Amino acid sequence: MTTLALNNVRPYGEDATNLLIDVTRGVIEAIGDSRFDDADEVIDCGGNVLLPGLVDMHVHLREPGREDTETIATGSDAAAKGGFTAVFTMANTNPVIDQPFLAEAVWEKGQTYGKCDVYPVGSITQGLEGEQLTEIGLMARSGVRMFSDDGKCVNDPQLMRRAIEYAKAHDVVLAQHAEDHRMTSGAVAHEGEQAARLGLRGWPRVAEESIVARDAIMTRDYGGRYHLCHASTEGTVQLLRFAKDQGIEVTAEVTPHHLLLTDEQLKTYDGLYRVNPPLREARDAEALKQALLDGTVDVVATDHAPHGSEDKCVEFEHAKPGMLGLETSLAVVHRVFVETGLADWRFVAKVMSERPAEILRLQDQGRPIAVGEPASLVLVDPQSPWTARGEEMASKASNTPYEGIEFNARVTATWLRGIQTYGAQQD
Ligand code: DOR
Ligand code: ZN
Repeated sequence: MTTLALNNVRPYGEDATNLLIDVTRGVIEAIGDSRFDDADEVIDCGGNVLLPGLVDMHVHLREPGREDTETIATGSDAAAKGGFTAVFTMANTNPVIDQPFLAEAVWEKGQTYGKCDVYPVGSITQGLEGEQLTEIGLMARSGVRMFSDDGKCVNDPQLMRRAIEYAKAHDVVLAQHAEDHRMTSGAVAHEGEQAARLGLRGWPRVAEESIVARDAIMTRDYGGRYHLCHASTEGTVQLLRFAKDQGIEVTAEVTPHHLLLTDEQLKTYDGLYRVNPPLREARDAEALKQALLDGTVDVVATDHAPHGSEDKCVEFEHAKPGMLGLETSLAVVHRVFVETGLADWRFVAKVMSERPAEILRLQDQGRPIAVGEPASLVLVDPQSPWTARGEEMASKASNTPYEGIEFNARVTATWLRGIQTYGAQQD
């Protein structure tokens, strides 16, 4: 057996200890007071925080079709650098992931590359066209755990009802991009004072909330595992709270950018800040923060959406919506919750690893740091200031909305089942 010692780590930011990993089996072999200095490889971790590897329910890796902006390989590099050991990549590729062989190809590529478990999301409708349902059962049988038309909403209520019923029958997660397209045609920014001042067409809260309300009621009546992508408004939070109070089994995610940024950013007209759903107002960000703290919103998911400069460095109206997220999300969550004293590292582990793994029923992700558990781990230095620079990202694209912003928490190493996928020792 090959062993790796991680000496002087602080699991969940708590008391320092030492960890021995059985690299051959990819599991944690021992945890103890004494250092494991006779392991095959020994790393002194300097009291860094150790968390279970992060799990992102929502990324766009652009393969197949737009490999010029991201591939499964570069997306896996970005994921590993951001501390992730599993990601779910959305179906809005070209071709759309709407058949089992396409989903299988995504999974295989991720496994062959080996830096992150890349789970394919299947589309709900064929070609993302919102007309015919895909073969949810066949894709589920080939291992697809989550279905979404993300990028587009399943607007048609009858189709959504059928999708909910099929998803329930096959026990898979149905993830909705909530946007009533009839209310957002031509919209590029949150409908509010900022958009009015800047002369940008507004995207009203109700376009999201009306779908959330409808879907919650459908989930009440037709069951299933409904998940809401990128919740972005105060009203959505209220609706989720109502649904959960009724015992309706919905789950929801929030992105780092909807927690940290607001439509104040838009005053430069920089296309980097165009995203769907749009950046909202301070009261929305505040409500989302509280919702994540009290469990109304379950997880943080990045909606990592790489785009080339030809699609971002253009007039705001013409910029494609989407922002990079994988390499900055942990630092943003640390800034919003840990630096402010609102929450601790246990909370970070919960919303960025344990809960997403639980929602997707991953057996070997989001597990406790304990003997016999998978050695899929991330090491974080909470006080290692760094500046976000799009050009320095592992991602093929560089459309980060945090350009030039200094963060304190830095991922120093990531392991997937005992294999180092990022970090000084490896690169
Ligand atoms: O901003 C976004 N970008 N929102 C989406 O729903 C889709 C995504 C993309 O694919 O670029
Ligand atoms: Zn998305």
